[in-house]
Amino acid sequence: MEAHRRARLLRVLELDVWTTRSKAAAVAEVVEAVVASAPIPAPRSLRAAAPVAPPLLLTPEAAEPPYIAPSDWAGLAEAVKACTRCKLCKTRTNTVFGVGPQDAPLLVIGEGPGAEEDARGEPFVGAAGKLLDEMLKSVDRSRSRNVYIANVVKCRPPGNRDPESDEVAACRPFLDRQIELLKPKLILALGRIAAQRLLSSTAPLSKLRGPQHAYGPANTPVLISYHPAYLLRTPSDKLKSWVDLKQVHRFLAGI
Ligand code: URA
Repeated sequence: MEAHRRARLLRVLELDVWTTRSKAAAVAEVVEAVVASAPIPAPRSLRAAAPVAPPLLLTPEAAEPPYIAPSDWAGLAEAVKACTRCKLCKTRTNTVFGVGPQDAPLLVIGEGPGAEEDARGEPFVGAAGKLLDEMLKSVDRSRSRNVYIANVVKCRPPGNRDPESDEVAACRPFLDRQIELLKPKLILALGRIAAQRLLSSTAPLSKLRGPQHAYGPANTPVLISYHPAYLLRTPSDKLKSWVDLKQVHRFLAGI
């Protein structure tokens, strides 16, 4: 080993000052064998200044492209029927796309299909659905004439649990496309889960109910009210729900 190379190794090892010449030479011989094929590391004082590799950024090619839902009603319905975008597809019987005229000025959004909806493939057909139909009738509205009804998820969460955030996110492109195609004048979200998921809020229903909100790129007006299943359990709140329905009626009538 040449003298200057050895001296450099010893400096790198910081042995040149405090080690005797013979010990240092022995260490240097061992080190020489190890580093023979590798570059000598920079002294510590220089290491901090060494260029840092840039963070690994996901290129657009590497990132998963956003899902684009079909932009026509028939294509959208087919895509929902065949959907496997979340785990709910494994336990559903039927997807529950939505029901009502495709030009309805009012869009009612619930949280997700229950057992009867899953069996029949139509939203709000169980006991809560019957109450919803009565509530809508009281303000001269129905799913056959002027209300479109959908849910934040199109497949039944097992055991009627709340839909999870990944399931709502996976289903969101379908709901967004329905809203875009329908162009409703007003969205009425029923219950805390539908309201919070739609508005990406954690506020309680008591705070969300009352004020008018807005949704999506079209800033569609949104009102929040009680879920009919909740009203079946808590009939004393039906009066407040009636207040909300009158607000819906006044909004749509332009009063
Ligand atoms: N509850 C909902 O939120 N949606 C339905 O379709 C049925 C019950």
